[in-house]
Amino acid sequence: MQQVVGRTACQNSTDRPLDFKWTSSGKMSSMNRILIIGATGRVGRQVVSQLPATGVRVRALARNPQTAGLPPHVDVVRGDLTLPETLDACLDGIDAVFLVWTAPPATVAPALERIAKHARRIVFLSAPLKTAHPLFQQPNPLRALGEQIERLIETSGHQWTFLRPGMIAANALWWWAPQIRAGDVVRWPHLDAPTAPIDERDIAAVAVRALCEDGHAGAEYVLTGPQSLSQFEQISTIGGVMGRSLRIEEMSPEEAKSELLPFIPELGVKMLLDAWAAAIGQPAFVTSTVAEITGTPARTFRDWAADHATDFRA
Ligand SMILES: NC(=O)c1ccc[n+]([C@@H]2O[C@H](COP(=O)([O-])OP(=O)(O)OC[C@H]3O[C@@H](n4cnc5c(N)ncnc54)[C@H](OP(=O)(O)O)[C@@H]3O)[C@@H](O)[C@H]2O)c1
Repeated sequence: MQQVVGRTACQNSTDRPLDFKWTSSGKMSSMNRILIIGATGRVGRQVVSQLPATGVRVRALARNPQTAGLPPHVDVVRGDLTLPETLDACLDGIDAVFLVWTAPPATVAPALERIAKHARRIVFLSAPLKTAHPLFQQPNPLRALGEQIERLIETSGHQWTFLRPGMIAANALWWWAPQIRAGDVVRWPHLDAPTAPIDERDIAAVAVRALCEDGHAGAEYVLTGPQSLSQFEQISTIGGVMGRSLRIEEMSPEEAKSELLPFIPELGVKMLLDAWAAAIGQPAFVTSTVAEITGTPARTFRDWAADHATDFRA
């Protein structure tokens, strides 16, 4: 990474002071008007909250602005990726876009065409599609969708950066919080499968730099937490920070398919089961990219669990 040569303190609303350490190329770029697509989600909400409150105009695309719950300085505009004609008003006057795509794939091409017509820089929340670790190399339809979006962005002729997080720590809220709130037993498949969960705030910190700084064009950042931890160790960590003694029981993949379907879409269950099964037997892939880009090491899963302990309380 390039050398740290200067600092610009920016006001923001995150719980870590946002003390920008600009890289050697690192001046604020001319990307002053930024649109966040996915602003109400786990990563997008953190990007909104970490974008400097001064010097950057932040707009959020939301399907339902009334319930978006975003800070008052954010210009919230109604839009829907599945209705490309709604995107022009959101994109009007925008320099850079942070893109999260969880919508169905049918409108990818027209939506990307509209985004590319307006924005000069696109930062896309993708996945480690090119990392040769079995956790990331199992075939699934979401992978094909990610590759399609990346191709469209690459051929847009604009500046782009792809963020490739491994497992997002906040998955624990969907996966384990309901069981931990309900009692002391957590049943889960492939407990030995290791991952390196990354705090969504650290993904956002990299996204903010890619959006606001020059020097990240064409970069593909594989982002992980600092440690390889089995799923058993991750659940134990949550129990530990809560002072709870959890009984953690292995569930078969067949049981997982029937028991997890109410919580996780069928496609997601199969994708995760395949990935975890393939990952058993070697440590998770760990990078130091968060520290290299932001100057601050990635948060540990224990940090994340401690900061979310209330989410696991009944
Ligand atoms: N989970 C992981 O471990 C992991 C790992 C690597 C990569 N990823 C990638 O991360 C992305 C998910 O990020 P996340 O967890 O922050 O997402 P999330 O919490 O599920 O939020 C999804 C966001 O997309 C918005 N959205 C959904 N459909 C939309 C539509 N039709 N038009 C406009 N906005 C729409 C949602 O807005 P509403 O408020 O309108 O619903 C919400 O803001 C996925 O692309 C996934 O592949 C995830």
